[in-house]
Amino acid sequence: TAAYVVIGNPVAHSKSPDIHARFAADTAQDMRYGRLLAPLDGFAAAVQEFIAQGGRGANVTVPFKLEAYALATALTPRAQAAGAVNTLKFDDGAILGDNTDGVGLVTDIVRNAGFELAHKKILLLGAGGAARGVLLPLLERQPAQLTIANRTAAKARQLVQQFQQQRGGCLLNACGFAEATQQYDLVINATSASLQAELPPLAASVFGPAALAYDMMYGAQPTIFMQFAASHGARVRDGLGMLVEQAAESFFVWRGVRPHTDELFAALRAQL
Ligand code: ATR
Repeated sequence: TAAYVVIGNPVAHSKSPDIHARFAADTAQDMRYGRLLAPLDGFAAAVQEFIAQGGRGANVTVPFKLEAYALATALTPRAQAAGAVNTLKFDDGAILGDNTDGVGLVTDIVRNAGFELAHKKILLLGAGGAARGVLLPLLERQPAQLTIANRTAAKARQLVQQFQQQRGGCLLNACGFAEATQQYDLVINATSASLQAELPPLAASVFGPAALAYDMMYGAQPTIFMQFAASHGARVRDGLGMLVEQAAESFFVWRGVRPHTDELFAALRAQL
């Protein structure tokens, strides 16, 4: 039985064990998946101990995604671009670091929400780890334009510089919230403002006709960002689908099998 864990601090709240248990049962994989609470100053030691016990892989959550990036002996391009690792795969002494958050977001938008990204105008709110983590997979879908808007505009400009090589034909630019004055097809909230029940100070005119507003956060109630967007005519979606899809991608990295996600998504929604 192959062993996997989610490592974090705290980790008790994580839905990953339930999600992966369901994936394993649905795809008949011989595996178990638990929680591993690592001390704040003991992430690397906890990982090494888990490897010594025969562990095959791990999800990494707050606050260890940067340490996981540093610990990995090899990184996928999407983990490199994200600058953070949420998925580790242990293989013959090697520690592969991957990041499935961005693909999870893109899969949820394109497949689950039926929203095609090619040639669209995207406004990405935030320039922290969550925003950086999804930039490469978004750019790979070849949008026409991607604007990064952040409270601290300099951080958004820094991200734009970092991703110049990967932008392809996409117009990639940065601004502060007040300077986001165009209309967009898709507005993604990657700030942590929702956690404080705050709203990035955005003009309602950013939501173009038939715009989708996506909040990476999720909860029993629509976030304040979703409420704002809906009140200005946007279609809204929260980040529960991203959670499920990043897990499915990690499962695929480990097991080479793609689990179905629709029923699990509905079950998780019903539990919120
Ligand atoms: P995460 O990993 O969640 O991205 P982070 O790296 O600390 O966390 O980044 C938090 C992001 O949310 C940043 O873009 C931050 O803006 P600043 O760069 O100006 O700090 C943004 N943010 C946090 N609280 C916010 C608020 N109340 N309103 C708007 N943006 C906020």
